[in-house]
Amino acid sequence: MIAARQYTWHCMATARDDNPERLVSASRADEEQGFELKLRPRRLNEFIGQSKAKEQLAIALEAARTRGEALDHVLLFGPPGLGKTTLATIIANELDVGFQQTSGPALQIQGDLTAILTNLRERQVLFLDEIHRLQPVLEEKLYTALEDYKLDILIGQGPAARTHVMEIRPFTFVAATTRPGLLSSPLRSRFGILLRLEFYTEADLHFIVERSAEVLEIPIDHEGAGEIARRSRGTPRIANRLLRRVRDYAQVRGTGVIDRTTAQAALALLEVDAHGFDEIDRRLLKTIIEKYDGGPVGLGTLAATLAEEEDALEEVYEPFLIQIGFLDRTPRGRVATRLAYEHFGIPMPGRQGGLF
Ligand SMILES: Nc1ncnc2c1ncn2[C@@H]1O[C@H](COP(=O)(O)OP(=O)(O)OP(=O)(O)O)[C@@H](O)[C@H]1O
Ligand SMILES: [Mg+2]
Repeated sequence: MIAARQYTWHCMATARDDNPERLVSASRADEEQGFELKLRPRRLNEFIGQSKAKEQLAIALEAARTRGEALDHVLLFGPPGLGKTTLATIIANELDVGFQQTSGPALQIQGDLTAILTNLRERQVLFLDEIHRLQPVLEEKLYTALEDYKLDILIGQGPAARTHVMEIRPFTFVAATTRPGLLSSPLRSRFGILLRLEFYTEADLHFIVERSAEVLEIPIDHEGAGEIARRSRGTPRIANRLLRRVRDYAQVRGTGVIDRTTAQAALALLEVDAHGFDEIDRRLLKTIIEKYDGGPVGLGTLAATLAEEEDALEEVYEPFLIQIGFLDRTPRGRVATRLAYEHFGIPMPGRQGGLF
């Protein structure tokens, strides 16, 4: 059992992520780290949108504060770039406690986890990113730590080995994942607070672009910000990246101010269309329409045709296309919707089987 799960873990660890070269990729490019830190909201009331998750969290924070206890463990999940790491840091700020960050792939041996857990300070936040990539043996180690704040440590080897139970200070575990479906149910059940992050509305992104422009001192008008917001695939990370690229264009080719015309010209040059689609999105939808008569087509077949990883399609490209109603996931495979046909100006053929 363990062997099989470990095998899966290794496959996951080597699976390719979103293409970092892609302008509308929701994954973070390395050089964006410093700039993201600058734009990251620090308190819950600066965090725009996600009203459901925010309210759930605000209530839990208030309750923990009044009881003077550590906050329940929190699982943050949702597509990349929507604010999971941001919210984890906000939780520590709101509780006014320390924050320590690590990630599933960074923890390789039991000693790594033991060292982190035994050094925690009372009530602090331990943030574990990409928890779906944590090795199964370490996951099992975590269980008692999360439940009873205890850690079983094996001392010695062979017949002389004995287990020593170590006490850990009560802490709040905050974990993030883009793939909640890959978590085992015992692990999932350890979290008292589950927060799902959704794609942002255009109005929320509009606020985010205006706020980021203010922080970075970029002159922008309302329409210019709207143009960027509309093409950001519901994702703050993309909105912030487009804002920076449009600023470059405005400074070099325009007056330095981002208005609608400048934003439109810059985004056209960057080949980001009205929905924030880029070449891969267009190729994905057109392949389903043109090669597979609109679908259904299985994920494996689609990935092979596009020469993309199944994981990347499922995790990165599809969620947004599904959210805006261009793609459907059915039990028999992926289907291009009427909106997708309309977008490309291709007439939709009559379908059999009453799908439409
Ligand atoms: N609600 C928000 N309001 C304002 N800015 C936001 C918000 N959410 C995210 N951002 C901005 O988007 C950037 C990306 O957010 P963050 O790093 O928290 O995403 P993530 O969900 O952790 O992504 P990943 O899955 O890649 O780890 C942040 O630097 C922040 O500037
Ligand atoms: Mg993150």
